[in-house]
Amino acid sequence: MAKDMYQTPRGTKDILPSEQPYWMAVRNTAEKVFLGLGFSRIDIPHFENSEIYAKGIGGTTDIVQKEMFTLQSHSEDEAITFALRPEGTAGVVRSYLQNGMASWSQPVRLFYMGAMFRHERPQKGRFREFYQTGMEIIGDGSPKSDYLAIMSAWEILNRLGLKNLIVYTNSIGCPKCRPKYLAKLKKFYSDSKKELCADCNNRLETNPLRLLDCKNENCQKLGKDAPVMLDSLCPECKEHFQQTLEYLDYFNIKYDLDPKLVRGLDYYTQTVFEIVEKDDKGRQSTIVGGGRYNGLVELLGGMKTPAVGFSFGMERVISLMKEQKIVAKKPRGVEICIVQLGDKAKEVSKAIYDALTKNDINVYFVPSNDSLRQQIKTAVKLEAKYAVIIGQQEAVKDEIILRDLDASSQEVFPAKDLIEELKKRMLSCPCAVEPAEEDEKIA
Ligand code: HAM
Repeated sequence: MAKDMYQTPRGTKDILPSEQPYWMAVRNTAEKVFLGLGFSRIDIPHFENSEIYAKGIGGTTDIVQKEMFTLQSHSEDEAITFALRPEGTAGVVRSYLQNGMASWSQPVRLFYMGAMFRHERPQKGRFREFYQTGMEIIGDGSPKSDYLAIMSAWEILNRLGLKNLIVYTNSIGCPKCRPKYLAKLKKFYSDSKKELCADCNNRLETNPLRLLDCKNENCQKLGKDAPVMLDSLCPECKEHFQQTLEYLDYFNIKYDLDPKLVRGLDYYTQTVFEIVEKDDKGRQSTIVGGGRYNGLVELLGGMKTPAVGFSFGMERVISLMKEQKIVAKKPRGVEICIVQLGDKAKEVSKAIYDALTKNDINVYFVPSNDSLRQQIKTAVKLEAKYAVIIGQQEAVKDEIILRDLDASSQEVFPAKDLIEELKKRMLSCPCAVEPAEEDEKIA
């Protein structure tokens, strides 16, 4: 590589063609699960008024304080500071309000996929530009929506073939019961203030809940016997959480209670959850994060509206797929190459091209004057399965030669039988991933 060649910015990456089968598998599987559960896709801008994030995610969170890419405006919007979206939930709620979705039939079920941006220290599974797939159910406060959020994440990961996963869950209460708990928590830490890390010392005043998930070893030791929110839940929050867990039990989704799970975004109320690979004890690569956020719609200017959702990092899912030796199926490329010789054959070829593509068969057809050998070589290079060869004689007799390019064998058919014959030969598996031993490995 030349010395002064431009490089991708730190924490970003190119997703090259060889990687794309994994991305397609994740996108297609998630889309199938969401559409099948009655969700609709939404796409929102990659940048928004930064206040949405400051208000929604919380002004004292790491995401807002340290990780947001803010943009300088050069135009009519000068008074507004924009930020590249660090996550999707706040933007989706902004869209819910802006587009009058509160008057749609409730709940509104939305899913999204796309790039998010956080100025974090890049390391394994942590990027500055990364991709999330997520969903939000806005307008339903019942535990069945908490279940649906957890279940749909679980279902996507399962259909992708991922194993050895576990859901960690907790309830962090509501504005009625949480303040009393926070007072207890502050009291608990008040004697050990000097021993806490600098971040926790700040958080003790601004966001005491976050002390529970500090990664500093000493803070973790100090918090070992800290009071837990589950013991301080009000009867409504207790009942809500109990019912959510009953759903998980009923549907056989493996979970562990984690009383220290609080999540890094301030909008959460009641149920919070993460899905993690069981051996990732330090939770360095949490795959899915989500929970209920009953106050966010109101916080961003709407009516009091309950909501719940999750998102997962697509890089982390793909990395785990590779670790677990899951092979993503290659997408359908060129299936048929039309090889033609002579003017009459060129004419017939176009009709054959139209008939094949109408039947959802992928066809490469560029009328050329190349030799038969040359055209077959091109077909092999494009990894086509078959060549449909039409010479002068075949064109006149309404026939084609079907050449299997892997087997290097060929047969003559009446042109009218071509589609049925190809359909018979090309019945392909509709799933996005397949067991490693059955397919050639990609990447
Ligand atoms: P989050 O926990 O901040 O939650 O992110 C969700 C997932 O995004 C993480 O579990 C991880 O897989 C992935 N992720 C986060 N940061 C990075 C990064 N720097 N590099 C690679 N992957 C990353 C949210 O974003 C919430 N909006 C989830 C939610 C939706 N809650 C309710 N609805």
